[in-house]
Amino acid sequence: MIGRLNHVAIAVRDLDAACATYRGVLGATLSAPQDLPEHGVRVVFVELPNTKIEFLEPLGAQSPIAKFLERNPDGGIHHLCYEVSDIRAARDRLVAAGARVLGDGEPKIGAHGNPVLFLHPKDFVGTLTELEEVRG
Ligand code: CO
Repeated sequence: MIGRLNHVAIAVRDLDAACATYRGVLGATLSAPQDLPEHGVRVVFVELPNTKIEFLEPLGAQSPIAKFLERNPDGGIHHLCYEVSDIRAARDRLVAAGARVLGDGEPKIGAHGNPVLFLHPKDFVGTLTELEEVRG
């Protein structure tokens, strides 16, 4: 069911510092910062030849990243995102298998303008897992 790895997300306290490290030290190509108020994050994508890294900085007081950064003050890997061709079909299959979808279970529009869902880490080997619908 899952397809390509779309991105690995890293929660960061300081987006500018993270970008400076990746651009300056690692020589990476970065996207422009983007505010996603619906998700409570500000994001930058590191563009790699085979995938992307997504930096997440908290945006607003209710950011879902804030608690993670309290537990991981240096930042750290926050989630993995896999591509699926039909996100509602994927969700229905996962729910039927007993997996927990976070939030109200309805896909939201993510940073690439595609529908996304998050799955409970306890159901997926301790890792918060995002699905993104990418129509081939
Ligand atoms: Co993501």
